[in-house]
Amino acid sequence: MASTAGANVSEFKEKVNLWSDNFVVRNLCRVFVISGLIIFAILVLFFNDPTCKASGFLSTWKISPSSSQPASTVDDVPTNVSHLAFGLQGSEKTYHFRKAYLEAWWRPNITRGYVYIDREPTGDLLPWSPKSPQYRMNDDLSKLIQEIRPRSALMPRMVHGILELFREEHEGIRWIIMGDDDTMFFVDNLVHVLSKYDHTKYYYIGYPSEFVLSNYWFNFNQAFGGGGIILSYPLAKALVRDMDRCLRKYSNLSADLMTMACLADIGANLTPHKGVHQNDLRGDYSGFLSSHPKELVLSIHHWDVLDPIFPKKDRFQSAQHLMKAGNVDQSRLFQQTICHHRPTNWTFSVSWGYSAHIYEKVMARSWLMTPIETFQGWSRSNKPPLFMFNTRRPFGDPCEAPHVFFFESIKETSNNEILTIYARSAPRNLPACPASGNHSAEFVSQVHVFSPATKRPEVQRAECCDVLSVKGSGKADVQLRECKLDEIIA
Ligand SMILES: *[C@@H]1O[C@H](CO)[C@@H](O)[C@H](O)[C@H]1NC(C)=O
Ligand SMILES: *[C@@H]1O[C@H](CO)[C@@H](O)[C@H](O)[C@H]1NC(C)=O
Ligand SMILES: *[C@@H]1O[C@H](CO)[C@@H](O)[C@H](O)[C@H]1NC(C)=O
Ligand SMILES: *[C@@H]1O[C@H](CO)[C@@H](O)[C@H](O)[C@H]1NC(C)=O
Ligand SMILES: *[C@@H]1O[C@H](CO)[C@@H](O)[C@H](O)[C@H]1NC(C)=O
Repeated sequence: MASTAGANVSEFKEKVNLWSDNFVVRNLCRVFVISGLIIFAILVLFFNDPTCKASGFLSTWKISPSSSQPASTVDDVPTNVSHLAFGLQGSEKTYHFRKAYLEAWWRPNITRGYVYIDREPTGDLLPWSPKSPQYRMNDDLSKLIQEIRPRSALMPRMVHGILELFREEHEGIRWIIMGDDDTMFFVDNLVHVLSKYDHTKYYYIGYPSEFVLSNYWFNFNQAFGGGGIILSYPLAKALVRDMDRCLRKYSNLSADLMTMACLADIGANLTPHKGVHQNDLRGDYSGFLSSHPKELVLSIHHWDVLDPIFPKKDRFQSAQHLMKAGNVDQSRLFQQTICHHRPTNWTFSVSWGYSAHIYEKVMARSWLMTPIETFQGWSRSNKPPLFMFNTRRPFGDPCEAPHVFFFESIKETSNNEILTIYARSAPRNLPACPASGNHSAEFVSQVHVFSPATKRPEVQRAECCDVLSVKGSGKADVQLRECKLDEIIA
């Protein structure tokens, strides 16, 4: 199962040049180019020969119909999970207790890729779990490391991992996705988001850290490797072709910055996606996840550093529990929907599949979109600005503090709808908000949320909702629906 240790980089580079470039096709096409670009352009435009276009050599010449509308034009098959390859950087030491996180989202025999470890697995890792990605041993880079003297041996190892993944998984691959062994990825959402980009172009997708100082220390323009570094196939290919030079030139940088620097040398800049979460944060992450950015969630990193995201569950159980909702409808997962209940002046804020909040006054959406600062930054300093977004401080004020409910169960209804149930985590222990009519929500123990069975991956506008009923028995029913054309959520 382990890869051939100490693979010869230059020998590999030759192979890279061969991959996906069908020799006969390439040379044939080259003749066309030499015999005149005009003829070639006519060929591409009018004959639309897929074999010629598929060649890496020719992709530079490809004329896309509209540059503002990325689309997969090379073959008409939409991007699916088989076009994604994951490289998950771990270590033998950590994988014993982290494998449960990967196994919560990994789809055996469906998702492609490997977890990379530094030495042969031992103990309870054997026999290797079929629910885990297969493992590969990282190449032995000790000679190179001795020569280039990086800040830490881990740095070139992580960047070189891109080459190690690419070497093995390139057949039919459109995207290379690097993460850590404590990163949860959301595969359906990744497929949807990546299908919007032309995988034959150079794309470097990710997001900076949520913690300001991480970006200041490293770079505001880099994808952080724990949240995920996503490279289109041709960009990954260009990067690994020159991997030796990259590792030498930027040997004193951190791995993610090294990757960014090498990609910058190629001419590629970061395309940010707010669904990628590096999470250089500590403590209770629920405030952030209850006001998630209005983008499909793609990853959650530092699963091992943050508190378990569900009360009374450990990290492993939390990962599994989250995927009960995530396996049904990732498009709505953590999407925040807000509506008001006039008879009581309450505001409901639902983060689908995760939490529901009830506030005892009518609140503006812009305010509720701001995460409650339940978490701390990576370093112990408390001097703002700490985060790359605004926060609300946790409140003792009964008009500002929510009643908090967490996702408990999910099922399909006979109406072909999805019902998610959120249960109160703890009593709020505050009096009712007097300013808005003194209507306490303390008796509500469950929020039932009905959502359409159809997925909703296009998130340009939030969904709306109606509070159907609030029963004396302690159950509140909320129905998600599309907003009306001119509807105001207030
Ligand atoms: C994904 O696309 C490939 C073509 O690249 C196709 O052969 C395969 O059947 C598709 N898989 C799924 C699950 O749709
Ligand atoms: C994956 O495929 C292999 C070989 O086809 C099979 O033996 C194994 O049971 C499959 N694993 C899962 C979890 O489906
Ligand atoms: C890394 O190397 C460059 C040039 O060799 C140098 O300018 C820079 O200060 C070094 N950075 C660190 C953190 O050592
Ligand atoms: C809702 O709150 C307003 C003050 O913001 C108050 O005037 C009104 O009476 C309240 N309505 C109910 C039904 O309590
Ligand atoms: C609000 O309700 C509580 C309990 O129902 C009651 O004790 C209190 O006097 C009420 N306050 C106002 C301002 O009506």
